[in-house]
Amino acid sequence: MPEDSGKKLTMVTCSAPVNIAVIKYCEYCIFLKTTTTVACSRSFQEDRIWLNGKEEDITQPRLQSCLREIRRLARKRRSDGEADVDAAGLSHKVHICSVNNFPTAAGLASSAAGYACLVYTLSRVMGVEGELSVVSRQGSGSACRSMYGGFVQWIMGQQGDGKDSLAQQVEPETHWPELRVLVLVVSAERKPVGSTSGMQTSVETSILLKHRADSVVPARMKEMIEAVHKRDFTAFAELTMKDSNQFHATCLDTYPPIFYLNDVSRRVINLVHRYNRHYRETKVAYTFDAGPNAVIYTLQQNVEEFVQVVKHFFPPETNGGQFLKGLPVAPTTLSEEL
Ligand code: ADP
Ligand code: CO
Repeated sequence: MPEDSGKKLTMVTCSAPVNIAVIKYCEYCIFLKTTTTVACSRSFQEDRIWLNGKEEDITQPRLQSCLREIRRLARKRRSDGEADVDAAGLSHKVHICSVNNFPTAAGLASSAAGYACLVYTLSRVMGVEGELSVVSRQGSGSACRSMYGGFVQWIMGQQGDGKDSLAQQVEPETHWPELRVLVLVVSAERKPVGSTSGMQTSVETSILLKHRADSVVPARMKEMIEAVHKRDFTAFAELTMKDSNQFHATCLDTYPPIFYLNDVSRRVINLVHRYNRHYRETKVAYTFDAGPNAVIYTLQQNVEEFVQVVKHFFPPETNGGQFLKGLPVAPTTLSEEL
């Protein structure tokens, strides 16, 4: 609890990393992050939120769920006499200011980092401790994984509403120090279909998704945890790629279909396979979430070379832009050159 809570303004700032699902529905945290400041003051008339400098609608149900739940936990702690909770964060309105240092809503898990950070920061302001991944999960399913570092497993709850699902660390970030993550920004645009609404349509319409959830994901989770424990890059990489591909197959199996990958994404997929085939070894893996941006896994010793290969086929824009953005390189040249 901040010590100056008796004064006019209480303010807390925290940050949280994004996380990328390697089995789509386990994780590695990376340098993309959200920084959130929560201030509360008697003089605030209402709760408000600014995202990347622009005011957003505070009445969104997910945001409201998180706010309500943290306040409920704070009240409970106070009534249980567990904390000398100052009223500052509880009886006052909050102003939330959050900045993502990466594109929002472009398939790079801003919702995960955003809600993890929001819930954690609110909890500091309101003097709440304990299991917060259940709360953050109400903002965004994947947020529960950003509450921890390293490799994290998201465990489904028993209740159908998912409100009791939580995250557990499988291994800390120190476990596999040679593992590297590269993010290739294909497009920083907001995706047309939000992950949550897309997922709902998939659940309603895709038979493949049902098959995946029943028989594929549980087995793959086991294999993935084993691969991570053993630091078996080949197994980790192949599982990651296959699972990304199957996830996007369920998107196509959704009716109407959802397209997250674009031509550049598919060229990245081809490039990775050609690179691995060239070495007759799985040295690099890709995964894509609900967007066209590629997340690449490789071991430290391969980073420099692979980055050179990417720069060769997708030269950076001369105006200082990002890799990959809209540069036409025919896929056939990839095979010729590699
Ligand atoms: P992404 O692939 O980036 O997770 P989603 O569509 O799943 O895209 O989620 C994007 C939404 O998550 C945003 O429109 C916003 O409502 C919420 N969000 C993103 N970043 C933050 C943040 N820093 N703080 C609060 N909410 C955020
Ligand atoms: Co999301």
